[in-house]
Amino acid sequence: MTASPTILKLGGSVLTEKTDTPTPKPAAISRCAREITSFITSTPPAGVDGPLILIHGAGSFGHPQAKEHGSPDGFTNFGIIEIHRAVTSLNDLVIEALVENGVPAAAVHPFGCMVAENGRIAEMETAQIGMMLARGIVPVLHGDVVMDRKTGASIISGDQLAAYLVVRLKAARVGLGTAVDGVLADGAVVPLITRANFESVRPHIQGSEGTDVTGGMLGKVLELLAIEIDINSYIFNASKENVIAGFLSGGEPGTRITRIAGTTETTEMTGAAHE
Ligand code: IPE
Repeated sequence: MTASPTILKLGGSVLTEKTDTPTPKPAAISRCAREITSFITSTPPAGVDGPLILIHGAGSFGHPQAKEHGSPDGFTNFGIIEIHRAVTSLNDLVIEALVENGVPAAAVHPFGCMVAENGRIAEMETAQIGMMLARGIVPVLHGDVVMDRKTGASIISGDQLAAYLVVRLKAARVGLGTAVDGVLADGAVVPLITRANFESVRPHIQGSEGTDVTGGMLGKVLELLAIEIDINSYIFNASKENVIAGFLSGGEPGTRITRIAGTTETTEMTGAAHE
């Protein structure tokens, strides 16, 4: 049986420029790939022994197109196809960078293996992901447009997908890499968010600027807090060198999110004061 996976989601703002047309950040994509490579090829430290599932966002390879084509509903067929093709072309770039660095990575496109209902994941085939993990292939998923039983088609963010796979695949830890240092409240990183302190933190959470059809920073926190298992999730700055590598080797960067404090072990207790 395969050890519990680590799930890493890289936000679109880390990998792409915030423009109206798809514009990658090639240097950032290769740096992320190199940091991931060190995790895949080094002996993982104690407590971090599972395989990796990588998810990425869309950035300018999806958000402007989704907005243009009428998200959350009203997508035309060619609108759906344009959004899907944009984000899969970013997926190609991410996989190319990983493969060039020696990571056996392969695409799993949600459009082809998922059905949504009112913008939430209703069904997903995941057997292929388990089989890939068992033999050391890194599945690379992404936020996507998917067919929706109620609305025709809807956008599923990489954040929603990460939270869903945590439960489906019994992940050990999950990290959302963004372009900011964590969840910022009044300019400072909030070290710990639980269901107990969320309402007091919520009014201060700074959202995401730019064209984001999937909820920005508050959307990420809501997805992670809603996870119905005891797991530590982290939101951190993946645009800064070595933060991804630190997370993958067991570090606790940025903001830690867990549903109930005290049910998940951690070495970092600085958040306790915020309860
Ligand atoms: C968005 O996914 C997917 C599409 C718009 C097709 P995400 O919401 O995870 O993307 P980022 O990280 O915010 O760019």
